Amino acid sequence: MSTTELIEVKPESEFEEGDRELVDVNGIEVGVLRVNGEFHAVQNRCLHDCGPVAEGQVSRKLVGEFVEPGKRVEKDYDDNEPIISCPWHGWSYDLETGEQLADDDIVLPTFDVVVEDGVVYVDGQQ
Ligand code: FES
Repeated sequence: MSTTELIEVKPESEFEEGDRELVDVNGIEVGVLRVNGEFHAVQNRCLHDCGPVAEGQVSRKLVGEFVEPGKRVEKDYDDNEPIISCPWHGWSYDLETGEQLADDDIVLPTFDVVVEDGVVYVDGQQ
């Protein structure tokens, strides 16, 4: 049975779009970000070489669609799937799932974020 352990981040009203905060979650540094109005929380320790991934650039995932043989793959950026790129060597992860874009067997730990009574919390249970 899992229990919820909420770690306070800060008031939602002070958490602007694009902001990020680092919090300690049971000894793990976690980056909490607000992107497109949504909150995300990821471990701030890259799975490549321990870089500060939560401090990296946030961008949109490039997705492609196969149309038919002989045609170019149609590509576009997906606003609903933000990614974060580690500032050290560029490994990129889906902010929601933590999956590394080049190998989805590599998954950066993510955490649930909840807002209660106007305060943003990270759920310490992964
Ligand atoms: S430490 Fe993150 S990409 Fe190398």
